[in-house]
Amino acid sequence: MSSWTPKSWRAKPVLQVPTYPDRTALKSAEARLSSFPPLVFAGEARGLKEDLAEVAKGNAFLLQGGDCAESFAEHEANHIRDFFQVFLQMAVVLTHGASKPVVKVGRVAGQFAKPRSADTETIDGVELPSYRGDIINGIGFDADQRVPDPQRMIMAYRQSAATLNLLRAFASGGFADLTRVHEWTTDFMKGKNGSPRYEETANKIDDAIKFMAALGLSSENTPALRETKFYTSHEALLLGYEEALTRRDSITADWYATSGHMLWIGDRTRQPEGAHVEYFSGINNPIGVKCGPSMKRDDLLALMDKLNPDDEAGRLTLIARFGAEKVIDHLPALIETVKEAGRTVVWCCDPMHGNTIKASSGYKTRPFDKVLSEVKAFFDVHRQMGTYAGGVHFEMTGDDVTECVGGVSAVTEASLSDRYHTHCDPRLNASQALELAFLVAEEIRQQRKPEVARTA
Ligand code: PEP
Ligand code: CO
Repeated sequence: MSSWTPKSWRAKPVLQVPTYPDRTALKSAEARLSSFPPLVFAGEARGLKEDLAEVAKGNAFLLQGGDCAESFAEHEANHIRDFFQVFLQMAVVLTHGASKPVVKVGRVAGQFAKPRSADTETIDGVELPSYRGDIINGIGFDADQRVPDPQRMIMAYRQSAATLNLLRAFASGGFADLTRVHEWTTDFMKGKNGSPRYEETANKIDDAIKFMAALGLSSENTPALRETKFYTSHEALLLGYEEALTRRDSITADWYATSGHMLWIGDRTRQPEGAHVEYFSGINNPIGVKCGPSMKRDDLLALMDKLNPDDEAGRLTLIARFGAEKVIDHLPALIETVKEAGRTVVWCCDPMHGNTIKASSGYKTRPFDKVLSEVKAFFDVHRQMGTYAGGVHFEMTGDDVTECVGGVSAVTEASLSDRYHTHCDPRLNASQALELAFLVAEEIRQQRKPEVARTA
């Protein structure tokens, strides 16, 4: 660890980073970024680690979610507001249903770089470099747009700062006040798309608030009712960008990534000897590792040794993303490995990335019932093994999109083209996200049974 520096990843094999044709422009953009203010403060990242340590112990639950890929085109205040509202609705459903604090972490304010399964894309015989997220190149199928442009890192940084600024204002400026629980319903979720179950929960919360007010506890005198803690996260794929925003904490002198509170390593870049793992081994933020079907026992052991040698609770979240049918084949072995090694992790379920299919129309989609069944399978396995299912990780938006099929809003294969806006993977719309939250709340309630609580 002593030889670690923010740039030591450069000596390791690196996957999924672009080759910039203009090296001078790249160096100058990275130099500018390293002079910019940090987006988050190390003390906040430590706070999140403490909150996640409570998740690891079974005392709290992690809700992580947001866009698959943020984009420069979609940066309206309404988009951020609607996302935040739905996120708050989900969190309140979970807190109320599970009677546990919910740790809120957005895939937002930095979620721009995308790993791709192929380096190039061919349409009608024309082959171009793949789109890798707005922080790297443009989505348009056009040779100029697909050239990696370092200026995009500066734009992504500035957009992240603006998004984070609004989210911070929402979280502490009165928007998240629990007395507004009915007002978080977005326009799309009113009328025929309304959720009677949500209204029912909101009414119960109203009653509880009135009861507390009678006891003298109100949002004026009780910050916990008036504000919420909201953290940011993204896949730290573009290591040059991350390096430039890695800073020494002025209080502890430890290194922190300051591009977001929590960062995770994607399923394609988690090689124990690779550049991404090297970078993550030296930062002190809470981190996640995506675990897909190819994760082997020895890899997991090596990753836990490298990424969390002191077994600090809250440092490492394992984000399982197998696919609904594969959970049973892979998750028990990983849980066994962690148990045998005597390690502490947060177990989180991403029911999105193992359930992507191509519809006959050509659209990438995810059947909502597969998403639900992966979540159920995840909780079932943990119940059987006496471990704590600590969190969920979703790709979702507050917008009325038609990207995942199914759910009460009944998106069909034929309607996918109506409002298919994602820059990468299909997201749950507001109605699907809320429906899922109710299912998760039910699963958490079941795992509170005493025999599980004792072993968790
Ligand atoms: C993602 O979270 O958008 C992603 C690419 O996930 P994974 O690394 O699990 O495939
Ligand atoms: Co995705």
